[in-house]
Amino acid sequence: MNQRKETPSGKSASGFFNYLHSIDRSALWTIVGVIFLFSFSIAVVLIAPRYIDSTWTSPSSPYQVQMYEVADLHYYLSTGSNGNDLQYVHHLKENFTLLAFKELEHLRIIAPPELEKYITKEDDKELKLTSRLLLLRHPKGKLAESAQQFKKQLPKESSTTGKELKFDVLELYDPKKKEVFSIDLSGGTIQDWVDEHFKIIDEKIHQPFHRDYGVIYTQNPLEFRIKRFHEGKDEKWSYDPEGESVTLQELTSASLDFHSRKELIFLGEKIYAIEGCWYCHTDQTRTLIEDVVINGTDSYPAPPSSANEFIYQKITFPGTRRIGPDISRVGVKRASRDWHIAHFWAPRTVVEGTIMPAFRHFFHPDPRGTSQGRPNLQFEAIYQYMMTKGTRITPPTQAWWLGKDPIKTKEIIEKEKRL
Ligand code: HEC
Repeated sequence: MNQRKETPSGKSASGFFNYLHSIDRSALWTIVGVIFLFSFSIAVVLIAPRYIDSTWTSPSSPYQVQMYEVADLHYYLSTGSNGNDLQYVHHLKENFTLLAFKELEHLRIIAPPELEKYITKEDDKELKLTSRLLLLRHPKGKLAESAQQFKKQLPKESSTTGKELKFDVLELYDPKKKEVFSIDLSGGTIQDWVDEHFKIIDEKIHQPFHRDYGVIYTQNPLEFRIKRFHEGKDEKWSYDPEGESVTLQELTSASLDFHSRKELIFLGEKIYAIEGCWYCHTDQTRTLIEDVVINGTDSYPAPPSSANEFIYQKITFPGTRRIGPDISRVGVKRASRDWHIAHFWAPRTVVEGTIMPAFRHFFHPDPRGTSQGRPNLQFEAIYQYMMTKGTRITPPTQAWWLGKDPIKTKEIIEKEKRL
């Protein structure tokens, strides 16, 4: 014992215990108590929520899960830095993605007899939907000839407007694949949900997602194929229906410069932090009536924010000041990409007298020389991030307040009644 005490560490250890002995016992208990209370409260905050109400930490509706799993992960965007215009590419999966093939004034679709039933003709009232993986292409083989014949029979001018008509005839075919990448001809509208009045035409095909919300449907999908070419030293690519089809690895590799929607959303979250958007905007619909009315409409007040809408975020920005409006429902309130382009480029052209700053670095200069820039990666990221706001919650058709609306929201908006 004596020997050990002589070592330097032994000395300091015994010094520490001597010091403890000299402190008043009640002071010691106070210190221990404070440490215990502090760690206990942290443990409660971290652990308790999942036992008290699981919806705080996990998605509360199938819609919310699908918004993430379907819409976010299977959607790829290129910012056009390879000299192309923005491309939107869907990852289509059999039994998983709903498809619609609709004839338009300038587009006719031909198909072998067994596929004819999937085409929505021009005067059909209901859009026919299928989850069988089919695609369109310029007619090949036998159908190429009949397409030529068919083209000759088509009217030369519109019966309503008298304008000259030029038809594209495309062939509906079965690609014999279970999944494929397709261009989105609708120009990037992700939130096109299937409504009740759309008709699923083949009930026999196993369609697990059809009754749920959050299923994407894509109209007239064309397979995404590309042709590579060189411009100087740079390898570039462009969409080409006769080109090579693209794999997931290639799509996400640097050479094609595509980004998944999920990546863009995380990037958008970072940009939101870096640009200080949170300084002027809050991201929370409080339970106050003002908030649910302002973020909703007069007949459908917006649901107040709940913890589980933020579960997919790395950083959350509740904010404290509302110099600009709250953004927690902006994906529903303002879904228009064009509006956001105009607003970030020159806020005062869309909202008179606003103090929202312009964010010109979200744009490339337009090579055609027009004064408005073309959206770049930063724009795409912040836009996709904002489109998650209010769309990862229970949809209005499943909301607790549906049809109840006990408070006369319209009166509140018109300031006849104050709460
Ligand atoms: C100096 C304060 C300020 C900053 C910083 C700011 N905003 Fe704003 N923002 C406003 C104001 C004020 C409005 C309301 C008028 C308008 O629509 O321009 C607004 C409006 C908006 C709107 C329209 C919301 C609606 O419901 O109409 C969006 C979306 C938006 N801002 C996004 C952003 C993003 C994203 C950033 C960061 C890149 C940002 N803002 C930075 C002040 C700001």
